[in-house]
Amino acid sequence: MTVYQRIVILTGAGLSAESGLSTFRDKDGIWARYDYRDVATPEGFARNPSLVYDFYNQRRRDGMGVQPNAAHRALAKLEDAFPGDVVIVTQNIDGLHEAAGSRNLIHMHGQMAQALCALCNARSPWVEDLSADLACSACATPGGMRPDVVWFGEMPYDLDQIAAALSSCDLFISIGTSGNVYPAAGFVAAARDIGAHTVELNLEPSEGASLFAEHVHGPATEVVPAYVDKLLSVSA
Ligand code: APR
Repeated sequence: MTVYQRIVILTGAGLSAESGLSTFRDKDGIWARYDYRDVATPEGFARNPSLVYDFYNQRRRDGMGVQPNAAHRALAKLEDAFPGDVVIVTQNIDGLHEAAGSRNLIHMHGQMAQALCALCNARSPWVEDLSADLACSACATPGGMRPDVVWFGEMPYDLDQIAAALSSCDLFISIGTSGNVYPAAGFVAAARDIGAHTVELNLEPSEGASLFAEHVHGPATEVVPAYVDKLLSVSA
């Protein structure tokens, strides 16, 4: 195995599946139970805000008490022990990377534990239910508080930071994501274009599997710790 210097890791819902959180597109996933157009678009929020509040309040409650798993912990260990750079770009909003001890994180789809005022764009840590009658602590106007989550049709966060990390990485690892949603699904091509080695760690081949140079398929709690140990064994 090559000794790498700068690793970019993309994570998705599959990483948190063994912590008990639903993924989106598996057969009993979230989008099998909800229409994303109703609960995860600005149009859906304008049409029926209480449906959206109920959806995210329930997801927030479902996430309470959920613990990071062996895969989250292995990534935190990699960040601590790896002599080079490790940055995690997560599509997940569940906060389990932080709970496992990871620090160098980019939350490209936002965070459940944060609220955003759609009127003044102020962000604030938030762990309670959200509702239309809540007033923003910055502009004091009610009716604009929403989860700080990137909805379909909205621009993900920190794309410049992500592009900078991808443009200088020598190893790109994608974990627990189906490769259905852009721009995240396009990161492997960007990494490959600059000559980085590309690895897919996923339960099954993703939509973009053919774009990766290396694949290890299996549950994240098995394949991620094993791959991290391999990386650390050659970089010690
Ligand atoms: N270990 C590893 N991979 C797993 C596991 C597991 N235990 N369980 C499921 N997977 C894989 C599935 O095979 C699938 O490829 O995780 C992937 C989950 O894919 P999605 O449900 O599509 O989730 P994700 O790719 O994170 O979705 C991307 O879409 O809905 C939006 O904004 C939302 O961030 C999300 C984005």
